[in-house]
Amino acid sequence: MDKIRVIGGNRLSGRIEISGAKNAALPAMVASLLTSDVLHLENVPYVRDVLTTRNLLQKMGGAAEVGEDGTATLRAFDIQSFEAPYELVKTMRASILALGPLVGRFKKARVSLPGGCAIGTRPVNLHIAGLERMGAVCEIAHGYIEASTTGLHGSYILMETVTVTGTENLMMAATLAEGETVLDNAACEPEVSDLAGLLRSMGAQIEGEGTRTIRIHGVKKLHGCRHKIMADRIEAGTFAVAGAITRGDVEVVNCNPRHLTSVLTQLSQTGAEVTIGPDHFRVIGRDPILSKNVTTYPYPAFPTDMQAQYMALMTQGDASAVITETIFENRFMHALEMIRMGADITIDGRQAIVKGGQPLTGARVLASDLRASASLILAALVAKGETVVDRVYHLDRGYHRIEEKLARLGANIERIQ
Ligand code: UD1
Repeated sequence: MDKIRVIGGNRLSGRIEISGAKNAALPAMVASLLTSDVLHLENVPYVRDVLTTRNLLQKMGGAAEVGEDGTATLRAFDIQSFEAPYELVKTMRASILALGPLVGRFKKARVSLPGGCAIGTRPVNLHIAGLERMGAVCEIAHGYIEASTTGLHGSYILMETVTVTGTENLMMAATLAEGETVLDNAACEPEVSDLAGLLRSMGAQIEGEGTRTIRIHGVKKLHGCRHKIMADRIEAGTFAVAGAITRGDVEVVNCNPRHLTSVLTQLSQTGAEVTIGPDHFRVIGRDPILSKNVTTYPYPAFPTDMQAQYMALMTQGDASAVITETIFENRFMHALEMIRMGADITIDGRQAIVKGGQPLTGARVLASDLRASASLILAALVAKGETVVDRVYHLDRGYHRIEEKLARLGANIERIQ
């Protein structure tokens, strides 16, 4: 299995291009199940979760091609199977996104329950409850959600917790339901808006995306279209931290800085010099790095998907910072590995107290999830000596050749077999 080796100490500088957003590409790809026409996607990142989604669509009988050039051509014309099997769902929880489109168009679906994962229990009860409100019958049997309906109808759905894929699933199902669906307490994440834009180009009637209330008026049929996936705000944020933590000078291009307001504001509060353009930004890392508290919340607040990377930065802070994680109950696994590198971090429930100013030393570390892997690489960039990050498959789920991009900025980093 691949590993990433980093020799710390280099200051990063230069310009880096951001790939398309994995979390926007996955729902966009499964949205192809809503029509028998061809869907052309651009700016699709060539990462493992995208390939898993391609495999899922192919397994159902769909035609699905994904190129390294960022294009995906998808057609759900001859769907034979309405199932997302355990083997795929266990490697990628986002397979749950197939549930809404399958029930919406084919009136049935069998999707494996994802189960727990490294960062928490991650239930999907709100996906199921929403579909039931729209007239689906859902049963849990043999580890699968088995859903069927004689036809979905519009409904008022108040989601008790803000859920990103839950909102996306129900929005997709509602596009073909009879009448109007209102999703209240919906997720405002830019990836939800990106999906709404795609669905609208397919003929759906949607308004309110990007706010807490989304209205979807069901239509009889959707058609194919061409859609460009938004830039990956978490990849962009990860490179922003790379600039700050190495006291470097990194220009991040091909992204939407407005999607990163909370992250870039937080970084400037830690002392980094941040300048913002329409589709790019630049981070110059300054000494000292100021320790500043942060709390994760749904968009537009500080994202949970940047919490681990920010923790790496805070290990280099000038005092103590409290990092509070409100989205997932067990998302501090990376802290234990950072401690092995010399960081001073105390975990107390949903809070991590990070005492800065501790010199890190390279070590063999294990990545527990996607963003944890990125955070360990960031820590390794400033650690003395060699760090080897194991279980790199997590990293490959969501970052396209991160080691090559970091190397181009001057990092001493390589992938080893
Ligand atoms: C998505 C993102 C993930 C990000 C997360 C939070 C994708 C593919 N993944 O994951 O990168 O970390 O949003 O921004 O877009 N919850 C329930 N019941 C449900 C669904 C969720 O209680 O039915 C809870 C979860 O346990 C969690 C919270 O809601 O505490 C938010 O989770 P959610 O937004 O659903 O995360 P994902 O959509 O899985």
